[in-house]
Amino acid sequence: MKLRILNSAAIAAFLSLFNSATATTIPATGPVPIRITSGGEAFVNNNAVLIGNTNTTLTPITASTKGVTLTWQPLKHHVIKVEVSSNYSFTGAQFTVPSSDKFFGVWEYPFHGQLDNTNVSLQLLGVGNDEGINWSNARAPFFISTAGYGVYVDTLEMGAFDFTTPNMATFNFNTSSLTYYIILPEKEGSFKSVIREYTELSARIEMPPDSAYGPNFWSDDFTQDFHGNVSNAQENYFDVINHLAENQIRATSMFADRPYGTGNSSFGNFDFNPKFYPTPAKFISDLASAGFDFQVWVANRAFLYTELFNASVANGWLFPGIDPVQFQGPALNLSIPAAYDYFKSHLKYFTDLGVKGFKIDRGEESEMPFYEQNIQMTLFEKLCHEVMIEAWGLGNYYSFARSAVDRARSLTGIWNGDSHANFTGLQYSVTSGLRAGILGFSMWGSDTGGYIRVANQTVPTEELWARWMWFSAFSPVFEVMVGTGHTPWYAPYTSSLVEILKTTANLHVSLVPYIRSYTYQATKTGIPVMRALWLEYPDELDAVKDIGDQYIFGSEFLVAPMVTTGNSREVYFPGSTKWINYISLTSNTTSIPQVYAGGQTTNVTASVEEMPVYVKEGAIIPTGDLHQNNAKWDANWKPYLNFEVFPSFDVECSSFSYYSRETNKTVEIEMKVDGGNVTITNGGFGGLDKVWNVTSIGEYWVYVAGTIQRVAIPEGGGAVSMRMESSAWE
Ligand SMILES: *[C@@H]1O[C@H](CO)[C@@H](O)[C@H](O)[C@H]1NC(C)=O
Ligand SMILES: *[C@@H]1O[C@H](CO)[C@@H](O)[C@H](O)[C@H]1NC(C)=O
Ligand SMILES: *[C@@H]1O[C@H](CO)[C@@H](O)[C@H](O)[C@H]1NC(C)=O
Ligand SMILES: *[C@@H]1O[C@H](CO)[C@@H](O)[C@H](O)[C@H]1NC(C)=O
Ligand SMILES: *[C@@H]1O[C@H](CO)[C@@H](O)[C@H](O)[C@H]1NC(C)=O
Ligand SMILES: *[C@@H]1O[C@H](CO)[C@@H](O)[C@H](O)[C@H]1NC(C)=O
Ligand SMILES: *[C@@H]1O[C@H](CO)[C@@H](O)[C@H](O)[C@H]1NC(C)=O
Ligand SMILES: *[C@@H]1O[C@H](CO)[C@@H](O)[C@H](O)[C@H]1NC(C)=O
Ligand SMILES: *[C@@H]1O[C@H](CO)[C@@H](O)[C@H](O)[C@H]1NC(C)=O
Ligand SMILES: *[C@@H]1O[C@H](CO)[C@@H](O)[C@H](O)[C@H]1NC(C)=O
Ligand SMILES: *[C@@H]1O[C@H](CO)[C@@H](O)[C@H](O)[C@H]1NC(C)=O
Ligand SMILES: *[C@@H]1O[C@H](CO)[C@@H](O)[C@H](O)[C@H]1NC(C)=O
Repeated sequence: MKLRILNSAAIAAFLSLFNSATATTIPATGPVPIRITSGGEAFVNNNAVLIGNTNTTLTPITASTKGVTLTWQPLKHHVIKVEVSSNYSFTGAQFTVPSSDKFFGVWEYPFHGQLDNTNVSLQLLGVGNDEGINWSNARAPFFISTAGYGVYVDTLEMGAFDFTTPNMATFNFNTSSLTYYIILPEKEGSFKSVIREYTELSARIEMPPDSAYGPNFWSDDFTQDFHGNVSNAQENYFDVINHLAENQIRATSMFADRPYGTGNSSFGNFDFNPKFYPTPAKFISDLASAGFDFQVWVANRAFLYTELFNASVANGWLFPGIDPVQFQGPALNLSIPAAYDYFKSHLKYFTDLGVKGFKIDRGEESEMPFYEQNIQMTLFEKLCHEVMIEAWGLGNYYSFARSAVDRARSLTGIWNGDSHANFTGLQYSVTSGLRAGILGFSMWGSDTGGYIRVANQTVPTEELWARWMWFSAFSPVFEVMVGTGHTPWYAPYTSSLVEILKTTANLHVSLVPYIRSYTYQATKTGIPVMRALWLEYPDELDAVKDIGDQYIFGSEFLVAPMVTTGNSREVYFPGSTKWINYISLTSNTTSIPQVYAGGQTTNVTASVEEMPVYVKEGAIIPTGDLHQNNAKWDANWKPYLNFEVFPSFDVECSSFSYYSRETNKTVEIEMKVDGGNVTITNGGFGGLDKVWNVTSIGEYWVYVAGTIQRVAIPEGGGAVSMRMESSAWE
């Protein structure tokens, strides 16, 4: 075997950080390990690099292995690049960690409801039908261990990860040459730095338009479920729009799931079915006038006798052996450039009509050989991305997929597939959102209320739907399926559910300045908006590593969705900080809700009119209303931006990086508390006055002595001061 260690300057720098790194000498017998020791203990123990001719017969590379080249080199202080090439068909590696450690990552789907991967062994493909959610399928060949480091395997070839042996991670890929990276933390416990390095090596999300955050109301099947005078799908959207307006519920977009086109399974002729959509161009432009972006369902599938099918058969583009009569239909092999170009040019039909995004479905339901899934889905998402970019330009449309791999996070957002419409579905959805975040898929949402009707329930219960609306308000993307007996303003639902939809949808819209600022951070760092507690509070790893039903949203909110029936749940309050109930505080400005100290678990109660969401002391939260969208009912609508601040005597200094779309830059808002004097400094808005009314921007909401005060900020930036006599936090 040939072992090469490259880049001696980087190694010197690297070794100065860690006491020693071995593999410089090859042991005479046994596996060649790559070990990094710190303080005399193995910090990284990559105890074997594996090769084999089948995926079940991999063995460690040893000094006597023939025909293998193994090189490793520090790429920079915190990243080691390992390259293996051999004449064997499969390549892999094995890592061990101390007994209390766990592994996170690889799949979005939360096996057994878990945040981590204990006992999971699976290929790197779409998970399929399973408990709680069917087809929760974002994935990436990346794991992170509580031991402190991450591993990224840079390939789209099929492979598998195995976490069934306690304290061990093993992977193999169907390739004779493989590159993987061992990513060390910048300092102990800095999981965020590991995600930052990983997403720098692979890819980060792109900044979506503000309409992407939703609420997005979508039709599952608008060939039925007509109410009142509605006689076709087109009219049904306007029935939804009218109900939203009547109830003053904010929304930004709509999309059409299948069926909407002609032909078998209603997709493949690149059209709208005139029976359901008699005037598609006018329909989409009317939607735009009403304030809505519009997206349509697409998939890489050729259904029998559609245009897509006929052209593919004539040119030999289809994966063989898949029955086109089945609902599945075979996929096109998009590795063939002519197939790719054909599909892409035909999807332009939709952007020409004004469609501003695709719901990218499937790709993991046997329409292609399983080992093509990662390659083909990435190609399809790239193709969809190119269609949109060419029509609208980067950042001006929003597509989302359920099956996306690794670098595809820069091409599409994610929805978590077909969640079950019961509390198991909600619970699994919360955890899948956190798991998607660990993989850097920050733009994420779930079907509010669940999608798959379980246990003989034709629709979600009102309680479940209400709880899920609250969860979606504090998800990066709020999307709601309506139709087929599943519409909040029609029976069996009551007006109180409509009120909750209004509260949560409008709250989500008001949080866009906040969510958008953290989404921008995700484009720069890979750190998601929805964060597992251990990402934000690594010092409390033991207390938080298993918590999958609570999260930190951005960095200021602690969110604890109600994921079981009933009005109470346990909440762990992390950090050496205090937390206060945000919903009660902002909905009732005259009563001070209870303050919770960090470092404890407490039972809290929440009716369906609220959710346990806490804001931490010292927080600065930008809120506002930046786009009118469908709020046509308000003739005097004007954009505005507020900063809600929560000063505390215990937090002398805090700040928020506000992202301004107009300037495409962040502005630092700082708050200093000195005795009772609170000073808020606006780092200079620059440019904002082009877009909204300066006189209405920047009212600070100051929570002082039990009342919220509004203070106008000086035009064009500067500082504002106020006196805090007593604080809610005491
Ligand atoms: C790889 O090459 C070595 C000699 O270079 C040979 O001994 C070994 O059998 C080969 N393995 C395979 C799978 O071809
Ligand atoms: C993992 O599997 C083992 C053996 O089946 C079982 O004892 C253990 O409880 C499982 N752990 C988890 C977290 O499911
Ligand atoms: C969803 O997955 C479950 C397995 O958990 C399966 O029983 C069910 O048939 C699936 N439902 C649909 C609609 O695919
Ligand atoms: C090996 O590949 C088969 C598919 O051919 C797959 O079902 C199995 O899970 C894989 N096993 C491992 C350990 O990778
Ligand atoms: C490995 O990939 C080849 C195609 O390159 C495929 O034929 C084979 O089934 C794959 N094997 C496994 C176990 O994934
Ligand atoms: C949700 O439905 C599934 C499938 O019917 C069932 O296994 C599960 O127990 C249900 N969960 C709850 C909380 O009712
Ligand atoms: C669903 O309804 C059928 C027929 O009424 C009944 O046999 C079955 O037990 C029900 N299943 C559940 C999970 O309630
Ligand atoms: C606010 O809280 C106070 C004190 O608990 C209560 O008297 C008042 O009715 C509440 N106001 C609203 C609008 O809920
Ligand atoms: C919360 O309430 C449950 C049910 O009453 C109880 O079992 C649990 O111990 C309580 N947790 C705490 C932290 O008090
Ligand atoms: C915003 O700035 C980034 C560089 O920080 C650039 O990559 C991006 O294209 C800009 N976006 C817009 C909409 O100008
Ligand atoms: C707070 O502000 C007041 C009035 O400007 C000033 O007299 C006082 O010294 C300040 N207190 C501190 C601690 O800076
Ligand atoms: C800003 O608000 C002021 C006062 O409400 C109003 O007179 C002015 O027309 C507004 N300017 C713009 C650009 O909307």
